[in-house]
Amino acid sequence: MSHTDRKILVTNALPYANGPIHIGHLLGYIQADIWVRFQKLRGHECHYMCADDAHGTPIMLKAQQLGITPEQMIGDMQRSHEADFAGFNIGFDDYYTTHSEENKALAETIYQRLDDAGHIKTEVIEQLYDPEKKMFLPDRFVKGDCPECGAEDQYGDNCDVCGATYAPTDLKNPRSVVSGATPELRQSEHYFFDLPAFGDMLKSWTRSGSLQGEMANKLNEWFEQGLQRWDISRDAPYFGFKIPGTEDKYFYVWLDAPIGYMSSFKHYCDTTGNANWDDYWQADSTAEVYHFIGKDIIYFHSLFWPAMLKGAQFRQPTNVWAHGFITVNGTKMSKSKGTFIKARTYLDHLNPEYLRYYFAAKLTSRIDDLDLNLTDFAQRVNSDLVGKVINIASRCAGFITKKFDGKLSASVADSALLEDFQNAGTEIAELYEQREFSKAMREIMTLADRANQYIADKEPWQLIKNPDAASEVHDTCSLGINLFRILMVYLTPVVPELSKSVQHFLNDQFSWDSHKQVLTNHPIDKFKALMQRVEMKDIEQMLEDSKEQQAANESPAVHAEPNDELTKEPIAETINFDEFAKVDLRVALIVNAEHVEGADKLLKLTLDLGGEQRQVFAGIKSAYAPEKLIGQHTVMVANLAPRKMRFGLSEGMVLAAGPGKDEIYILNPHEGAKPGMRVM
Ligand code: MSP
Ligand code: ZN
Repeated sequence: MSHTDRKILVTNALPYANGPIHIGHLLGYIQADIWVRFQKLRGHECHYMCADDAHGTPIMLKAQQLGITPEQMIGDMQRSHEADFAGFNIGFDDYYTTHSEENKALAETIYQRLDDAGHIKTEVIEQLYDPEKKMFLPDRFVKGDCPECGAEDQYGDNCDVCGATYAPTDLKNPRSVVSGATPELRQSEHYFFDLPAFGDMLKSWTRSGSLQGEMANKLNEWFEQGLQRWDISRDAPYFGFKIPGTEDKYFYVWLDAPIGYMSSFKHYCDTTGNANWDDYWQADSTAEVYHFIGKDIIYFHSLFWPAMLKGAQFRQPTNVWAHGFITVNGTKMSKSKGTFIKARTYLDHLNPEYLRYYFAAKLTSRIDDLDLNLTDFAQRVNSDLVGKVINIASRCAGFITKKFDGKLSASVADSALLEDFQNAGTEIAELYEQREFSKAMREIMTLADRANQYIADKEPWQLIKNPDAASEVHDTCSLGINLFRILMVYLTPVVPELSKSVQHFLNDQFSWDSHKQVLTNHPIDKFKALMQRVEMKDIEQMLEDSKEQQAANESPAVHAEPNDELTKEPIAETINFDEFAKVDLRVALIVNAEHVEGADKLLKLTLDLGGEQRQVFAGIKSAYAPEKLIGQHTVMVANLAPRKMRFGLSEGMVLAAGPGKDEIYILNPHEGAKPGMRVM
C-alpha cells in the first residue's frame, strides 16, 4: 500500500470508572495500540482516543459505599487507569472522561437533534423500586428465586443455574441488592430512542461486506428477532447528565458513553490543535473512524451507535472491530485461583512487552476468545523474542565491537537473503493492516529462524580463528545485524520499548520504510542485554499476589465519612518509638464500677490486670451507667504516676475517645485479649 495521507481516528471501548484495569481489559487496548502504532510508523495521521466511562448506577453506589463523592472516585480511578495503561506502553493521544463539559454538550446536541427529528418518544412504564433506598433498581440490583427452576439468589435478568432469561418483575421473593428491602412496582415516565426507524440503514451497513463475519451474523439474528426501541432515560438518583427540559431524568450511561469517543477527540483537538474535529465527525467526513471493542458490547456499537449518529446527522464509523474474551490457563479469570490479574499486579512482576508480544502472537481479525496460558506465555516469549530475534544481535554484535571497531561493513554478505527480508515487508504490512497479528508474528519468526540458520551455517566464531577470513566475518555479522534490524522494524508496533532500545543500540531511527534500507559503514553501540527471559517464579509470584489481593478485597474497601475531627484536634507532634514505648498500655478487666459520693463527673473503676488490681477515677459518668461497664475489657495506661484526688488515689487511666458529655467512648479490645496483656 502506498503512503497516501490517510486520516484515521481509533478508539477502544471506555473502561468503567469503578474498578481497576485487569489483564482481560488489556487485550483490546493493546490490540488497538499495535494497530495505531503501525499506522503511525507508516506515516499516516492516526489518533488514538480513550476515556473513563464515568456514569451510571454502579459508579454512584460504589462511591456511596466508599463514603466519597462520585467525582472524587472517578478522578482517582482515572489517574490509576492512566498509570496502568502507560505501564503497558499504550500510547493514547488523549485520555479523557465522559464526565466532562465537552461530553455533556455533545450528548445534549445529539439528543436534541434526535428529538427534533422525531426519534425520541416517552412512555410511562412500570419498574421495580427500592422503597428504602428510594431509587429504581437496574436488573442487576434485584435478586431473588428463579421463576423457572426456583434456584435462589439469582439476578434480575437471568438465572446462572438454568440459564433462563426473564424480567426482574418475574423473580420470586425479590429483594433489592442495595438495601435488602422488598422492591415494589412503581410507574415512571421513560424516554425511548426509536431504533427500528434505522433498520434499513443498519441492514445495508451489515450487507456492505466490510463487517467481521461473526458480527454480520449476529446483526442478522437481531434483525430477525426485530429491533426494539431503546430506553435511554433513568430516574434520579443517578450519576450522569440530566436530560434537557426535565428535572429528574438522566441519560442512561450507554447513551453518553460512546459520545465519549467524540468528546475526547474534541478535547484533544481543542487542547493540541493536532486535528480538526469537523474533518472527522461531520456527515461528509472522508476520514476513517474505527472502534475496537470486546464481543460483549457489540449490540451497543453496531446498532445503537451508528443509528444515533445517523439520526443526529453525524458520520457513522468506518468499522467496528470486536475481539474475544481473555481466559487464563483455559478458564474464566478466577479470583480464587489468582488468575484475576490486575494490570498493576502484572507490572509489579513482569515486563509489559512480554504480554504485548504474546497477545500479538495469538490475535486474529476474528472474535475468538484468547487463552493466556501462562506456561505457553513464558515459553513463547523466551523462544521467540529472546531465543530467536535478540539472539541474532547477541551472536553478531560482539564481533563488530571487538574486531571491527564497532562499525558495520561496507557491503553485506548475502544480498538474496537480505532482499527476502526486505520483500517480506509488503506482506507483513498487509497482515498488520488486516489485524492478522498472529500471522504477522509467524512471518517475522520464520524470518528470524532463517537469520539464525544463516549465522549457524557461517559459524563466525570458527571463521574468526582464521586471520584471512576476517572480512568474511565482518560481512556475515554485518548482515546479521541488518537482518535483526529489519525484524525489529517489523516488531516496532508490538514491542515499542524494545524497539527504542534497539534504535539506540543501532544509532538509528525507525519508520516503516526503514526496512528497505541497509546500514553499511555504520557505527553501532556495544551490545547490552536487550530483554530478560521470562522466569516462571515471577509468574508464580504474580499469581500469589493476586490471591492475596483477593483476600484483602473480600470485604469492600471502607472509608470513614468525612468529618472535622482532625481540624478540631490536629494530630500531635511526631514522637519516636522509644518515646511511645514509655507508655505502658495494658488490657484490663473492669471488675467493679460505682458512683462516687459528691462527684458529678467521675466513676470509680476497679481494674484487674490479671493478678493486680488498680483503682481509677474516670470522668465518664455522663456517658456510662456503672453497671454497664462491669465485666468489660478495656485498655489502661498502667504506668501513669498515681494521682491523689479529693476522693482517693487514682492509679492509672482508661483510654476513651470523644468530646465529653454523652459522647465518650471507652476502648474495647477484640475478644480474646486477656487482662494484663501489653498493648503495642
Ligand atoms: N464502559 C463500557 C464500554 C463503553 S464504550 C462506549 C464497558 N466497560 S468495561 O470496563 O466493562 O470493559 C471495557 C472493555 O474491556 C470492553 O471492550 C470489554 O469488552 C473489554 N473486556 C472486559 N473484560 C474482558 C476480558 N476478560 N477479555 C477481553 N476483553 C474484556 O464495557
Ligand atoms: Zn433457573
